[in-house]
Amino acid sequence: GDNEVGNKREHLYKILIIGELGTGKTSIIKRYVHQFFSDHYRATIGVDFALKVLHWDPNTTVRLQLWDIAGQERFGSMTRVYYKEAVAAFVVFDVSRSVTFDAVMKWKNDLDQKVQLANGDCVPCVLLANKSDLPKEGIVTTPDKLTEWAKQHGFMGWFETSAKEYTGIEEAANFLVAKASKWD
Ligand code: GTP
Ligand code: MG
Repeated sequence: GDNEVGNKREHLYKILIIGELGTGKTSIIKRYVHQFFSDHYRATIGVDFALKVLHWDPNTTVRLQLWDIAGQERFGSMTRVYYKEAVAAFVVFDVSRSVTFDAVMKWKNDLDQKVQLANGDCVPCVLLANKSDLPKEGIVTTPDKLTEWAKQHGFMGWFETSAKEYTGIEEAANFLVAKASKWD
């Protein structure tokens, strides 16, 4: 979505946040948009929405329409509908539970099967290694290996994040927006 009035530019990007149950998708969004974190876990049902407005530069406003997809939806039939017209995705795993990393490709494959950009390319994906405030297990303990893995599996990059401590989230979003400016 692109709109130009004078030399002011406005962009609207639909971005998906997907990944296994309880990896922190909702917490990342709540932190990023509302500067809020809770230890209490309430599973998302279906999908939730949030809007983050970025004053990217004096002439550019970016609106990120964040679609927070429930982890339990991977087994549902609605993801195709939710994925429609997305221009980017974050795939989230929990660094303290390597089983959530093992499911990352299931989410990415589901995404790639169900939605493409207008030019037929895969939707650009960034991997988020969330809960970096907790003890890590698995590949995330060897960052070089994860960097190589991410490259080989079609991710633009990966970021360590903590919704609890608010680290890495803005960096990841800014990375995506910087790439996005080349899409439209
Ligand atoms: P579903 O909606 O079921 O798919 O889960 P979700 O991915 O949205 O996870 P949610 O954000 O609800 O977080 C699950 C649990 O992890 C909650 O108890 C959060 O408080 C906790 N959590 C989320 N992010 C972090 C983090 O960065 N660090 C720590 N320590 N806990 C986190
Ligand atoms: Mg949720």
